[in-house]
Amino acid sequence: MTGRDGGAGFRTRAIHAGERADPVTRAHNTPIYQTASFTFDTAEDKEVAMETGGHFYTRTSNPTTAALEVKLAALEGAEAAVVGASGMGSVATTLFSLLNAGDHLVTSEDVFIISRFFLRDDLPKKGIDVTFVDITNLEEVRAAIRPNTRVLFAESLSNPNMYVANLPALADIAHAHGLTFVVDNTFLSPYLLRPLEHGADLVLHSVTKYISGHGDTLSGVVAGPKALIDPIRYQLDVLGACASPFNSWLVLRGARTLGLRMEAHCANALELAQFVERQPEVAWIRYPGLESHPNRDVALALLGDRFGGMFSFGLRGDRATMNAFANRLELCGLGVSLGDVYTLVYPMPNRNNLIRVSVGCENSEDIIADFEQALEGLAVPA
Ligand SMILES: Cc1ncc(COP(=O)(O)O)c(C=O)c1O
Repeated sequence: MTGRDGGAGFRTRAIHAGERADPVTRAHNTPIYQTASFTFDTAEDKEVAMETGGHFYTRTSNPTTAALEVKLAALEGAEAAVVGASGMGSVATTLFSLLNAGDHLVTSEDVFIISRFFLRDDLPKKGIDVTFVDITNLEEVRAAIRPNTRVLFAESLSNPNMYVANLPALADIAHAHGLTFVVDNTFLSPYLLRPLEHGADLVLHSVTKYISGHGDTLSGVVAGPKALIDPIRYQLDVLGACASPFNSWLVLRGARTLGLRMEAHCANALELAQFVERQPEVAWIRYPGLESHPNRDVALALLGDRFGGMFSFGLRGDRATMNAFANRLELCGLGVSLGDVYTLVYPMPNRNNLIRVSVGCENSEDIIADFEQALEGLAVPA
């Protein structure tokens, strides 16, 4: 018997880890503990709860969120995890817990735009210096490290340019200089890559994306050793970036099918990317599953034969061409976010007219047909 937390397989852990039948009603699903506070029979019980980390107030901890933390730690192969209100809540509380005034951080030029704003504008205002590098250029990473550098921060698959970070090489560089290596693994999910197995010290996610999977909630997580997670939990508590129990319940529900969904995302993305690459209207495409990807060797070494559900491409032509293509889509949604069961397309006029595609779990022939009709007759330069 493996028990509900002990299954070795990824899909088994995704379904069972953290979940318990409700002790009072024996309801099989983890309940939504929609409460601000927890009461005690006696003042002495309250003291014991406070001393032993019992639930006390939902900003600090909640049983529904705690169940999700156990599940996500099990999926990342981590000792501990802390779930917060959103991916940005996890990025900010992680970096605040690791950095103080006078410290320096090295990060990638290609990170999610709001992470970039936080790194570029907010950390320096707190006296923390930040250097942006091409994360695929290991010499540049090495050269950016200073005596006061404390953290190396990178996305495993970068948003929106789809570069794959060489995690083992970056971890070696970080550890040779005593840095904490933090990886945002949002674009890949723990089904495809577990950064802690490749030398990262902490892994974080916008759980809003693949882990939740249904585009109906925001959530974030950081996973790693308890000694690093506890200070992040404290930051989350004092900044009030806690998860809502209902959101945690939605993620518990979505995460159970993570492995099943990722298989469909990967198969559909490869098919659609191969189709897009063949079209005469397309100027370029970046998908780690294609031979043409600029750091395909790193993708093969880290990901094997599944390359995720995200790609970016550009059309021949200008902003108007990009918009005309986007406006013609009928099945695929035109909007931000990613990792949902439905396909989402996001044109980025301020990123050289890059079009980011989050390939969903629909039948691949239907997604391809939608792209085909949107490209048909599109006016592009000869
Ligand atoms: C790579 C990455 N990290 C972090 C975030 C922030 O997540 P959230 O929107 O849940 O705050 C995003 C959001 O798109 C993202 O793409």
